[in-house]
Amino acid sequence: MARPRRVGILTSGGDCPGINAVIRAVTKCCLGEGMDVVGIRDGFLGLLERSVMPLTDEDVAGILAQGGTILGTTNRANPFRLAVEEGGQTVWRDVSDQVIENYFSLGLDALVCVGGDGSMAIAAGFLDRGLNIVGVPKTIDNDLQQTDLTFGFDSAVANAADAIDKIQTTAASHHRVMVVETMGRYAGWLALTAGLASGGDIILIPEIPFDPGALCEAATATSRRGKRFSIVVVAEGAYPRGGEQVVARRVKGSPEPVRLGGIGGKVGQLIEENTDREARVAVLGHLQRGGSPTAYDRVLATRFGVAATDLIRAGSFGQMVCLQGANISSVPIASVVGEPRKVPYDHPLVSAAHRLGVSFGEPGGGPARR
Ligand code: F6P
Repeated sequence: MARPRRVGILTSGGDCPGINAVIRAVTKCCLGEGMDVVGIRDGFLGLLERSVMPLTDEDVAGILAQGGTILGTTNRANPFRLAVEEGGQTVWRDVSDQVIENYFSLGLDALVCVGGDGSMAIAAGFLDRGLNIVGVPKTIDNDLQQTDLTFGFDSAVANAADAIDKIQTTAASHHRVMVVETMGRYAGWLALTAGLASGGDIILIPEIPFDPGALCEAATATSRRGKRFSIVVVAEGAYPRGGEQVVARRVKGSPEPVRLGGIGGKVGQLIEENTDREARVAVLGHLQRGGSPTAYDRVLATRFGVAATDLIRAGSFGQMVCLQGANISSVPIASVVGEPRKVPYDHPLVSAAHRLGVSFGEPGGGPARR
């Protein structure tokens, strides 16, 4: 194929800090190599509605440290299965032909898709239909296969750890158990990492279903050791052994309609009803996704943006950039679609937590503390 001349970029799915750093890097690199850059508004919806804007150096000046996405996003627009209201009813339409037609009529030679696993699944569908796509992994959940990190995760961990630090001072003053619910969907990376960063006593993650008795025992054990407060960091996807994840809502029209949330309240109630400890619950929610990216995320997102431009120049479409060890590499987009990447039980962070005496709500306290 001839060298691409016009590159589109879209940001799709839930926003996270660092997206603008990718947009900036792709724009600056492509413009620097003589390519035009077209920003597509609100993810694949913009490609369906031809809602686009040319991106210039001026447009991306000063956005490196800005949270969110200057292009807008949505997690309710899968062109292969778009929810449309007809006669007061929601019906599902495949509008992918229109998207493909617009891609070509806009003169795009390549498309950078910045998104999580849902967006990569859509991208894979369009790859099969002949569009030249490269992917950039984005999510605060850090749950994409084949990459050690997604950008946005480090910022969300920093936001959550900062909030838990603040909660700790009030927990200590009142000698309470403070339960903090984080996001993370079906993976525990965010709760685990923020919990370790902020000295959580108990960390509950979906990969290790907790035993209610062991949880209550752990919540009282801290006071027996002379510490009069406890911090419980619970991932929104955590659930008790033999129980189920708590669904907060179902988003009509979303390709992945389930939104988890509410386990924090249940954990707080469990502790109050079964121990002599007073508990309070804080749900961190979208605060974790907001604000300026950390310096680490700005750099990672920038490296991803540069690597995406390299793939475009080389005509290596169908690849998603990724971080493997210290190196930026790339993998087929199709290989990251499907199951989320979960925390393995033998992960060094789980082992480190066990060594410190952190409880995951396992009966007997988990592996013996060495
Ligand atoms: O995938 C990112 C994420 O923030 C999850 O951690 C969370 O479960 C979900 O998105 C929330 O989605 P929404 O913004 O639609 O409420």
